[in-house]
Amino acid sequence: MTGYDAIVLGAGAAGMMCAASAGQRGRRVLLLDHAEEPGKKILISGGGRCNFTNRDTAPDRFLSANPHFARSALSRYTAQDFIALVDRHRIAHHEKTLGQLFCDGSSRQIVALLRAECDAGGVDLRAGHRITNVSRADAFTVQTDHGAFTAPALVLATGGLSIPKMGATGLSLDLARRFGLAVVEPRPALVPLTFGEDWLALMRPLAGVSLPVEARTGRAAFREAMLFTHRGLSGPAILQVSSYLATGAPITLDLLPGTDAASWLLSRKRDRPRAEARTVLAEHLPARLANGLAETRLAHLARPVGELPDRALRDVAAFLNALTLKPAGTEGYAKAEVMAGGVDTRALDPRTLAARDVPGLHVIGEAVDVTGWLGGYNFQWAWSSGWCAAQSV
Ligand code: FDA
Repeated sequence: MTGYDAIVLGAGAAGMMCAASAGQRGRRVLLLDHAEEPGKKILISGGGRCNFTNRDTAPDRFLSANPHFARSALSRYTAQDFIALVDRHRIAHHEKTLGQLFCDGSSRQIVALLRAECDAGGVDLRAGHRITNVSRADAFTVQTDHGAFTAPALVLATGGLSIPKMGATGLSLDLARRFGLAVVEPRPALVPLTFGEDWLALMRPLAGVSLPVEARTGRAAFREAMLFTHRGLSGPAILQVSSYLATGAPITLDLLPGTDAASWLLSRKRDRPRAEARTVLAEHLPARLANGLAETRLAHLARPVGELPDRALRDVAAFLNALTLKPAGTEGYAKAEVMAGGVDTRALDPRTLAARDVPGLHVIGEAVDVTGWLGGYNFQWAWSSGWCAAQSV
């Protein structure tokens, strides 16, 4: 079958945005997905409420081998543009924290918005199509288990490798390589960290406990909540630093951000000398954590704070304000919110996401080596890159 101007592979966030926008520019667009319904990751996103963008979107909140690459697309189609679209569809939303915008109702509303926009653009959306081969002669030909389709433009929008049980595949990366585009080694990002038995003795019994921390690695620092898990650490602060964490590198945690633990503990030694040190700690830390520390790492916390030498209190304070830990690894793509790495931006035009050396080919969304922070940034990249590619196909 012929007659399309563009074929978009992947009816996720970026693919639907691209297909709808290109369709509304008068392009005849075929949108193919192997899943039975489009936008499955959108449905589960943001705990079912889809954190669809971030008011504070700025290029420095995205990781890439080329940190300037995302700037152009993010400024051509902005967070405000997407918010205006959400408002046009009368989808009520609210800011939860740190500029993060969520639907008041359900993620389904965002998928419905994208489907309505695709309909308005006359997009031929075909779910449940397994892609068996893609080739390029004068035009691109996509073979599927439901027949072959041809178009002069092809958009790779099948996303990243995270959550394979939801149907994530490396198709866009494989095809990009086949067409000669370099790929920056992909890795799980926004992912919980795992620890060895030495730390798990503390962490495992605390699974479910959360507290505000500042987590850092290298020059990246995030002051948000941290959550203990059965395998180690998660929560926004940990997910954020995980994206920046080099293999084998440590993270540093401030368990009392904004509090000088040494002066606080020394003042408690004067005010409450008979209180157990762990009881004092529980003034600022979850009691279960204070007890866990006394049981597994700092036995002297079970003694009255007045009996501890200043030196010991300073050691406790250093532990609390600058705990350096080496993760054993991550929970991998099964738990990662996104994939970092992807199609090398040097192969792409930042304005149009078009491959420089393969006429008609575009790569958008998570498949590109652009990874946002936690908090709506990854969807904004999907909308921005999808819209920009649509202006050029
Ligand atoms: P996306 O994954 O959306 O779409 C890819 C599409 O391609 C899918 O429909 C898939 O079925 C299809 N596909 C894959 N392989 C194929 C193949 N071989 N053949 C045919 N089709 C194929 N981000 C954010 O900003 N705010 C949030 O609240 C969240 N929440 C969130 C929660 C969870 C649990 C996860 C896993 C991720 C998030 N994210 C997020 C990240 C966000 O979901 C992600 O960055 C975007 O969906 C990426 O958009 P893409 O369109 O690139 O891929």
